[in-house]
Amino acid sequence: MKTIIEPFRIKSVEPIRMTTRAEREQCIEQAHYNLFNLHADDVLIDLLTDSGTSSMSARQWGGVMEGNEAYAGSPSFYRFEKAVKDLMPFKYLVPTHQGRAAENILFTVVLKEGACVPNNTHFDTTRANVEAQGAEAIDLVIPEGLDPDSEHPFKGNMDIGALEQFIEQHGVQNIPMCMITVTNNSGGGQPVSMENIRATRAVCDRYGIPLFIDACRFAENAWFIKTREPGYADKSVREIVQEMFSYADGCTMSAKKDALVNMGGWLAMNNEDWAVECRNRLILTEGFATYGGLSGRDLEAIAIGLDEVVDEDYLRYRIASTAYVAEHLAAEGVPTMRPAGGHAVYIDARRFAPHIPPLQYPGQSLAVELYKHGGIRGCEIGTAMFGLRPDGTEVAANLDLVRLAIPRRTYTQSQMDYVVEVVHEVFDQRADLRGMKFTRQPRALRHFTGHFDYVD
Ligand code: F0G
Repeated sequence: MKTIIEPFRIKSVEPIRMTTRAEREQCIEQAHYNLFNLHADDVLIDLLTDSGTSSMSARQWGGVMEGNEAYAGSPSFYRFEKAVKDLMPFKYLVPTHQGRAAENILFTVVLKEGACVPNNTHFDTTRANVEAQGAEAIDLVIPEGLDPDSEHPFKGNMDIGALEQFIEQHGVQNIPMCMITVTNNSGGGQPVSMENIRATRAVCDRYGIPLFIDACRFAENAWFIKTREPGYADKSVREIVQEMFSYADGCTMSAKKDALVNMGGWLAMNNEDWAVECRNRLILTEGFATYGGLSGRDLEAIAIGLDEVVDEDYLRYRIASTAYVAEHLAAEGVPTMRPAGGHAVYIDARRFAPHIPPLQYPGQSLAVELYKHGGIRGCEIGTAMFGLRPDGTEVAANLDLVRLAIPRRTYTQSQMDYVVEVVHEVFDQRADLRGMKFTRQPRALRHFTGHFDYVD
């Protein structure tokens, strides 16, 4: 059969409020043309993020009722611990309320001012948490990872030569840890190969540097390894995941992605000294060691989500559904990052609207038009997000993209057909897209709260 169907039935539904273009024009004007300011009820198909937007299964909702809310030693914690360790067998596990809390605790303990952390590409909260310690976040993805047209099967790979050179130049003593992000979200949701994780580990071993995995989308990454990397086709996803983590000394995780829940995260590691300090820090900022920032019911839902996310029928459908959107957009000539990533499709707005210069935010203009035209909410990842430098000057970002992130198990194929149709219609009228400007902008993370308008 060539049709890959959703491997689930819908048991509970959440109505979508239909809106007209006139209503949406008013909503987005009131939101100062910033999609983060919209009320979610005014959005038809919300592709702002795949984080915390998964639909939970009947089994997970059943688990929620089983949650034990004891302050210390909850059985829900031990079920969570078993589920995590079955996949990621690190010695110490620290639950947190989401990924960035795990990053904050880890970096507070491990990084000193002036330290450097290499990564294939830091996600923006990871970078911000490294920098908050006065340390430097270095991105060392392979050159193919920066080329939207490259069809390299593992565009998220670390540039091993660049990593070695970086360590030689900056000195091991200034590099307390190295990270690798699977899949590489900021680089288009592109996977990292097992061979590359192994090679990164070998470099880290040579210099005695601990390796941590930013594990948010570990199951999607494992599926790409199974389907693209020689030697893995006959291994189970669970075995592949276990091998990936066997090369690391620890991980940070946002359970809002590949644990199929709406809130949660963790930090795991083998280093006992660090773990003791991280736990102390956890108790100060998140909660006691057996719940972190979470309820017992959240821990139950994560434990079950981890079992469901490595199911191969689920992953086959998940990755096919993202590729489906990318292929149908490309078929009509819409420029996208190639090949399709795991959790999102990235439209190349600079090539979509070449008449808009980067400093007039073609990605923002396109994202606003997708909302006005069809009620779709995506996210600009380009000059509006990255173009402002600390000294207040502006430069074009490497790429101007619009990310359409696909929530897990949430939208149907006909809803995705609608998304494709909306993008095609906007593409047909792309000459009408207009440049934008900021009318108000904070100094940092301006894309979240800034106000926009069209240039005159
Ligand atoms: N690391 C990666 C690779 C991420 O994609 C995210 C979140 C985090 C860490 C932080 O996790 O949100 O639980 O604190 N990414 C979301 C996104 C927000 O939309 O890509 P968090």
